[in-house]
Amino acid sequence: MSQATNQSWGGRFSEPTDAFVARFTASVNFDQRLARQDIQGSIAHATMLARVGVLTEEECDAIINGLTDIQDEIERGEFNWSVPLEDVHMNIEARLTDKIGITGKKLHTGRSRNDQVATDIRLFMRDEIDVIEAELTRLRDGMIELAEREADTIMPGFTHLQTAQPVTFGHHLLAWQEMLARDHERLLDCRKRVNVMPLGAAALAGTTYPIDRHVTADLLGFDRPAENSLDAVSDRDFAIEFTSFASILLMHLSRMSEELVLWTSAQFNFIDLPDRFCTGSSIMPQKKNPDVPELVRGKTGRVYGHLMALLTLMKSQPLAYNKDNQEDKEPLFDAVDTVRDCLKAFADMVPAIEPKKESMYEAARRGFSTATDLADYLVRKGVAFRDAHEIVGLSVAYGLKTKKDLSEMTLEELQQFSDIIEQDVFEVLTLEGSVAARNHIGGTAPDQVRAAANRAREALAALKGAS
Ligand code: ARG
Repeated sequence: MSQATNQSWGGRFSEPTDAFVARFTASVNFDQRLARQDIQGSIAHATMLARVGVLTEEECDAIINGLTDIQDEIERGEFNWSVPLEDVHMNIEARLTDKIGITGKKLHTGRSRNDQVATDIRLFMRDEIDVIEAELTRLRDGMIELAEREADTIMPGFTHLQTAQPVTFGHHLLAWQEMLARDHERLLDCRKRVNVMPLGAAALAGTTYPIDRHVTADLLGFDRPAENSLDAVSDRDFAIEFTSFASILLMHLSRMSEELVLWTSAQFNFIDLPDRFCTGSSIMPQKKNPDVPELVRGKTGRVYGHLMALLTLMKSQPLAYNKDNQEDKEPLFDAVDTVRDCLKAFADMVPAIEPKKESMYEAARRGFSTATDLADYLVRKGVAFRDAHEIVGLSVAYGLKTKKDLSEMTLEELQQFSDIIEQDVFEVLTLEGSVAARNHIGGTAPDQVRAAANRAREALAALKGAS
């Protein structure tokens, strides 16, 4: 036996690993988070080995009992993680051998840490995706419900952050919801490619033992074994795919956050967020800051960073496994935690948004938001659109001078700009008339918003049914 610190591979070494190198190459401080999946994978592997006759039933039972005990030790916080043992895999295997003796050393038959770690991460990602999906569903549910409740609430719609046309708050919320619906599909699509089993690829080329990879895949709930052993141990594209999903989702949550921050300001004054989602200032007693949306907006950056890190980690790696891949875990773990927490924050917060309806309504009235409606009215009466645009432009200039919204002008005042304008113009100049007129699929009319909310709910239910 060599004097190398690591008994698992020390055989061919003639001097111990440098203490710094041991610490530098170890991953146990972070990959111990994969312990549950590592044990789950090992139990399935041992079960399969027994089924094909590579292990006896007694050996298999001893391994499973030993691993189950180790799981308990870890959960109780009694497991002694050792850096010289490098990673989660060798820590658990060494403990198993401590507990059950030589049989513990048979667990690694027909397997390598390369296919083991790839399997662990995929199991972990699958578990986390399911938790994230539940939070995303909860958020979408709450958003659809709020949208339906606010189907008649009028607010200004913006382009260039300038008042453009009136919309309903419900319509605005359903725009957010559409973004999340696409994110949800991306997540479920990613899950399909996560749920493929590397185990059996061994180090890179497969194994000489008569393994049955379908048995292991079934035991672990994987859809199928990975096709190619070289690919199975090397690629982390599923992690990149997840962080892409996460980046796009956080980009969306960040946009929503930005609007929430703007809307809670005194200048907009569109909504109130309950105190439990805000904090105060240590110096300015009047302050109530929208910390939760601000933090979600801020956390978007670190997720983008993780996507870049993983893309760069993978680029230029020759087949098959390289130690570079050990660096996949920390970005992935942080992306998972960040996405889950941001979704939880939003799922809790969105149903608690309190719209200040009068203030929204006033803001929509102040910005000549029905100017397009007046132009459309003139076009319906036979005026060419460009001329109508000009007439309305003059009316707006008059309104700016006299501080009157279009709907506040008398018929006589409006007729200064076109004698085609009649009493019925006031039906289109009101905010209610303006939103009600956009009465088609995808439009902001309250009836359309209610119908869209119903369709959104059905689409969400269908997605749940499919997953
Ligand atoms: N800790 C390693 C990782 O996370 C496990 C696989 C190590 N394999 C090896 N041949 N050194 O990637």
